[in-house]
Amino acid sequence: METTINEIADGVFRLSTFVPDANIMFNQFVVEAEQPLLFHTGPRGLFPLVSEAVARVVPLDELRWITFGHVEADECGAMNRFLAAAPDATVAHGAIACIVQVNDLADRTPHPLADGEVVDLGGRQVRNIDTPHIPHGWDAHVIYEEQTRTLFCGDLFTRFGESEPTTTADIVEAALAAESFGAPTALTTTTASTIRQLSQLDIATLALMHGPAYQGDCSKALLELAEGYALLCDPA
Ligand SMILES: [Fe+2]
Ligand SMILES: [Fe+2]
Repeated sequence: METTINEIADGVFRLSTFVPDANIMFNQFVVEAEQPLLFHTGPRGLFPLVSEAVARVVPLDELRWITFGHVEADECGAMNRFLAAAPDATVAHGAIACIVQVNDLADRTPHPLADGEVVDLGGRQVRNIDTPHIPHGWDAHVIYEEQTRTLFCGDLFTRFGESEPTTTADIVEAALAAESFGAPTALTTTTASTIRQLSQLDIATLALMHGPAYQGDCSKALLELAEGYALLCDPA
């Protein structure tokens, strides 16, 4: 296996490792700034590959922020290994998530993010948007990078297989097809409406965790995904 690096927006780097046994890719993102941010750590088993790739973008000990879409092995399994390698780094996650998960799981006290909170990385800002139960647990959130208009949308639009670093081709069909494998998305009464709210952001790039970075009509893709989930919830 190897981890590839692509700059998908100005100062936003996508690190991607395809795992053949699982037939899925695991992506992390590094945001260059005075206070560099890592979104997703990858699972513990990928730490040697992912940390080496991060270090090609920014020295590990200069990482300042570590965050991830939700608490799950592929999103944050290597969190404590990164905390050990980056002494000045702080984990940032949703406030509720910190109470129920990260305060206990992380080796250093995390920073609880309020819904809508903006973190100044120095030269660029990222905004926290809580998205409870999207895709799974109540701790879920996404991060919007305001300068490049990149939405780090975690497991939204998850697909299987390998894909190119960026695309403008449809990402909705593959995402809805992936629901047949274990129903990964928690379909609730607020799933579609929360995703429709995300579609109102001015998004240039949807940074997928398991798939290509999408640089087509992002609002339309989110609306179509919301519609697809609404139909799965209520086929009638
Ligand atoms: Fe997940
Ligand atoms: Fe994931």
